[in-house]
Amino acid sequence: MTDYTPSPEDKFSFGLWTVGWQGTDVFGPSSRDLLDPVEATYRLAELGAAAVTFHDDDLLPDEDERDAVLERFEKALAETGLAVEMVTTNLFSAPVFKEGALTANNREVRRYALAKVLRNVDLAASLGAKTFVLWGGREGAEHGAAKDVQAALDRYRESLDLLCAYVKEQGYDIRFALEPKPNEPRGDILLPTIGHALALIAELDDPSMVGLNPEVGHEEMAGLNFAQGISQALWHDKLFHVDLNGQHGPRFDQDLRFGAGNLRGAFWTVDALLGAGTGKAYDGYVHFDFKPPRAEAMDGVWESARGCMRNYLMLRERVQAFRSDPDVVAALEAAEVGTLRTPTLGEGESLADLRAASYDVEGLAARSVGMEALDQLALEHLLGAR
Ligand code: GCO
Ligand code: MN
Ligand code: MN
Repeated sequence: MTDYTPSPEDKFSFGLWTVGWQGTDVFGPSSRDLLDPVEATYRLAELGAAAVTFHDDDLLPDEDERDAVLERFEKALAETGLAVEMVTTNLFSAPVFKEGALTANNREVRRYALAKVLRNVDLAASLGAKTFVLWGGREGAEHGAAKDVQAALDRYRESLDLLCAYVKEQGYDIRFALEPKPNEPRGDILLPTIGHALALIAELDDPSMVGLNPEVGHEEMAGLNFAQGISQALWHDKLFHVDLNGQHGPRFDQDLRFGAGNLRGAFWTVDALLGAGTGKAYDGYVHFDFKPPRAEAMDGVWESARGCMRNYLMLRERVQAFRSDPDVVAALEAAEVGTLRTPTLGEGESLADLRAASYDVEGLAARSVGMEALDQLALEHLLGAR
């Protein structure tokens, strides 16, 4: 039995904007004071994180202080041993991006946005980050004819192709990860789900350089199953990064701490990240992108950060106990789950053989599938009853 204290080997990572969120929402101003991102870095290290991530504007909002802040930040990284594993660009807060950034109708805005990203890619490389996230919160529309979706996708592809070419030309060890979201802040955002983003990646000049950064809440806002979505991303070798958090079904983007909201979904999310028994596993940083609720003071902010990591560790323990339980192994076999790995057509067999075979259709229709028994075992492990 462990006390669920996180350690750097767990590879937990936090966006500086998570604990730094001041609670500003559409109904009211901030409810918490500004948190110095360098202070947040020290505090996250104390809590057991291994890395931090940030948007350019989280760390460096003020051009005049850029060098001084970077110096303090690099000192904090050296003193704590924390890595910067991912960097991302804020292409959504400044009013200039009110109608989009890389896919804005206005060409000057698109050029300015691309320049902002390029500058930040240089910073990411200088800090050793290997993943660069692109979340297009303002890429989208509230109306029909106001956005030519096909042209917008052309411009998305153009930007990604240019960014990949730049990274190669500079010799940077960086891959891009697209973050899907169905809506918020735009009424409808381009690349709304994992599947949409995967389809765009296949159209790029070098698809190997671009993968995904799926977020739990974003897929669940669209009513989708996150574990199933990231399993498909793993299958495509496209799960470059992940944003773990919590969400209570289709409603506004809640960004709850990981484990809050859909707890059963969180159990299957951890299972999927670990490879769901026999599949490919995720080996990147376990990154949290949540917002400590606006009602909380700073004690609640740190408690929610701690909770993200503890909940992951508890769920990982529950998932491992589930997967290694002999009753579960037997139930998986009874449900024929492993049989799905056997190709449908036998080796050396022809489609004519398959068509000529005789099938006990009634017997097959009446067979036991054992899935409720298997799922009940999962619930018992999740609830600590086994
Ligand atoms: C959201 C998004 C953002 C992005 C982040 C990366 O909750 O709407 O997750 O937090 O992840 O801005 O660019
Ligand atoms: Mn979110
Ligand atoms: Mn996110």
